Amino acid sequence: MRVRFLGTAAGGGLPQWNCACAGCRAAREGGWSRRQDTVAISGDGRVWYLLNAAPDLRLDAPELHPGPGLRETPLRGVILTSAELDHTTGLLTLRETSAISVYASSTVLAATPALSLLRRYTTVNESPLIGGVPAVLDGGLTVTAFPLGDKRPRYAGESAAGIAAPSGAPAGEWVVGLRLTNGRTTVIYAPCLAEWSDELTRADVVILDGTFFSDDELRRHTGVDRTARQMGHLPIEESLPLLAPGPRYLYTHLNNTNPVARPDSPERALLHRHGAAVAPEGRDLADL
Ligand code: MLT
Ligand code: MG
Ligand code: ZN
Repeated sequence: MRVRFLGTAAGGGLPQWNCACAGCRAAREGGWSRRQDTVAISGDGRVWYLLNAAPDLRLDAPELHPGPGLRETPLRGVILTSAELDHTTGLLTLRETSAISVYASSTVLAATPALSLLRRYTTVNESPLIGGVPAVLDGGLTVTAFPLGDKRPRYAGESAAGIAAPSGAPAGEWVVGLRLTNGRTTVIYAPCLAEWSDELTRADVVILDGTFFSDDELRRHTGVDRTARQMGHLPIEESLPLLAPGPRYLYTHLNNTNPVARPDSPERALLHRHGAAVAPEGRDLADL
């Protein structure tokens, strides 16, 4: 199994272009940055899938280089965990391909604006993921979605005009977690987690929601009056005590206000004391 983090920040990236909070300033001053959350994964190291597709997606990792055919790419498809803009707008970056597979819940397949546009540029082979039912991918990989919540993107909220959610959509299909296995290694990817789930204890590697460290962080750092929980994100403070002894836990989708994004923060040290870590930006998990 191969896993490469193409980006590990929440919406807006880090630093965020219009933000002068302490976290964004630290990134500018320290000369480091994080792109928005996207993971590349492969069961055999030859064919690859993206988990989500962020707006600042760049497919420049060596594993994703094209060839030997002139337009041959190792990228087979994209698996979406939600229809959020920061997880789906990067689909538009893939429009030059001749065909791409997209896996997501039927709710997300129907609601994602970038997917509607992509269908006009290339052949999109869509596979609805049904919770608990494994889907077989190329390269010996199997993916199973499990429901994690019903938080809709803001553009698809009850009050949003124009984009109606499919009627009768089953509960839990707006946000899912993914269990991926090649038969030897199991990786769970859950970048948006409203409540703890026991699914997050049964894997070799668990990549989980690290958007906020604390519930009131956004208000304290930026004055924006929304809590982590209101945004459907379980704060790290609350998930950290629930981590199980077995799996390797890596937090991703870090908001720019999150102190764990800063290498020297006490919150990062606390994470390490719990045996967890921050997902390594731009790097791969070599030892899977
Ligand atoms: C989220 O991660 O909660 C969403 O991306 C927030 C948003 O873009 O509104
Ligand atoms: Mg987000
Ligand atoms: Zn900021």
